[in-house]
Amino acid sequence: MVGARMYGSLYVLVSVLILLTPVSLGANVSYFKTVNLTYVPSAVKFGAVCLDGSPPAYHIDRGVGDGAHNWLVFLEGGGWCDTTEDCVNRTTYLSGLGSSKKMQPVNFTGVLADKQQLNPYFYNWHRVFVRYCDGASFTGNRVDPANKLHYKGAKVFSAVVKDLLGKGMSNATNALISGCSAGGLSAILNCDKFRSFLPTHTNVKCASDAGYFLHVKDIFGEYNFANYYDRIVKLHGSTQNLPKACTSKMKPKTLCFYPQYVVPHVKTPLFLICSAYDSYQIQYILAPSIHHLPRSWERCKNDTTRCSHDQIEILKGFRLEFLRALPKSVNGSFRGMFINSWLTHCQSQLQLIWDWDPVFKLQDKTMAEALGSWTKSGSSLKIIDDNDLPKIMPRNLL
Ligand SMILES: *[C@@H]1O[C@H](CO)[C@@H](O)[C@H](O)[C@H]1NC(C)=O
Ligand SMILES: *[C@@H]1O[C@H](CO)[C@@H](O)[C@H](O)[C@H]1NC(C)=O
Ligand SMILES: *[C@@H]1O[C@H](CO)[C@@H](O)[C@H](O)[C@H]1NC(C)=O
Ligand SMILES: *[C@@H]1O[C@H](CO)[C@@H](O)[C@H](O)[C@H]1NC(C)=O
Ligand SMILES: *[C@@H]1O[C@H](CO)[C@@H](O)[C@H](O)[C@H]1NC(C)=O
Ligand SMILES: *[C@@H]1O[C@H](CO)[C@@H](O)[C@H](O)[C@H]1NC(C)=O
Ligand SMILES: *[C@@H]1O[C@H](CO)[C@@H](O)[C@H](O)[C@H]1NC(C)=O
Repeated sequence: MVGARMYGSLYVLVSVLILLTPVSLGANVSYFKTVNLTYVPSAVKFGAVCLDGSPPAYHIDRGVGDGAHNWLVFLEGGGWCDTTEDCVNRTTYLSGLGSSKKMQPVNFTGVLADKQQLNPYFYNWHRVFVRYCDGASFTGNRVDPANKLHYKGAKVFSAVVKDLLGKGMSNATNALISGCSAGGLSAILNCDKFRSFLPTHTNVKCASDAGYFLHVKDIFGEYNFANYYDRIVKLHGSTQNLPKACTSKMKPKTLCFYPQYVVPHVKTPLFLICSAYDSYQIQYILAPSIHHLPRSWERCKNDTTRCSHDQIEILKGFRLEFLRALPKSVNGSFRGMFINSWLTHCQSQLQLIWDWDPVFKLQDKTMAEALGSWTKSGSSLKIIDDNDLPKIMPRNLL
């Protein structure tokens, strides 16, 4: 029997565990490093620009010691824009998502942290946080002169990677590209492209955090999110930049914006981090606030302790569909995955989840240990939380 009451007790249990966690592991969990912006002005002459025509930008914290030949390139997330108005809005209102003129320094935490106690595998690598300012997961390639919009995400991706090659990445021993949300999707779509830019002697791998957006029907029995994806791909002229191995087979080709259709063709080793109850996907893919979504659903998706029995069953069904859509064999091309059940979105930059609080471990591994050991090894790794209920995040992490 699964019901609202059981949900309540799960919430309490998790909260208590968090409160009891010792914070005496020899490092400061609140620690972060603020890293300034580096612009790529040379990209402008190749048309590699943000939506408003400004140069792309990233943040870099240099590697040291035995990490000085290793590179982590992490792509920022931030949704997508599917209409002219929506994209214009990004250049005006949303800080940095459409213009590097509005970008600020960022705090490096979790997978980007520079302390061994907080980030055991990547702390001394060169760590690069690439800003997202194109609105289509680094895939677009067209210009709309009438509205002064530059849909040039694919060019931005190439220009930034080439700039990093010139800053030492061309000598990399190891290179890992990752990202979160729209950036996690981008890391999947651009995985083999990233590989192609690096020398053959470099050990190249890809990872994706919360980027495995599912192609499924919503609670209305419709594909509203797929229609949204279709509009994004068309507006940005992205089709020709999606992986050819997918677009040559898929109809319509715009479905190749979905990881589940692209991943079977990805040749470079790929690691997936995601919650099977990803909060963004529940909000916008499973139960979008359209067609006057019933208030009971608005309540449920905002706070799953208030879901009815039937709604819980629908959420559990979503998790099963998510698990079914994951790549079938993880061994073939040395794939890996760390799939948990937290109602959250983007986890690898949250220090407590990444490598601190034991409550977030699966099979006795933190997320950092899972991705780190997989990156170092040549084998596959499959870790899935078999708990079939959504886990509510502790309040202090919301
Ligand atoms: C922990 O780090 C935060 C942010 O860097 C800082 O403000 C705080 O003083 C640090 N606390 C300790 C005990 O070092
Ligand atoms: C970051 O930029 C600020 C403002 O320009 C400057 O004061 C600071 O020294 C810079 N930090 C680093 C590490 O370069
Ligand atoms: C533009 O962005 C602002 C801030 O996020 C939002 O309030 C507004 O509704 C957006 N407008 C459009 C047309 O999307
Ligand atoms: C970095 O963290 C500090 C302390 O929490 C906060 O004041 C600051 O706004 C953060 N900077 C950014 C760019 O998020
Ligand atoms: C790569 O390493 C070689 C030999 O150490 C060096 O000459 C060259 O400048 C390096 N390239 C970059 C882009 O750092
Ligand atoms: C969702 O939850 C937040 C915080 O708990 C609350 O402020 C908001 O009113 C809730 N919205 C709905 C529609 O229940
Ligand atoms: C991968 O796993 C599948 C299913 O378990 C198995 O059939 C296949 O032989 C394995 N391939 C390799 C290369 O180990």
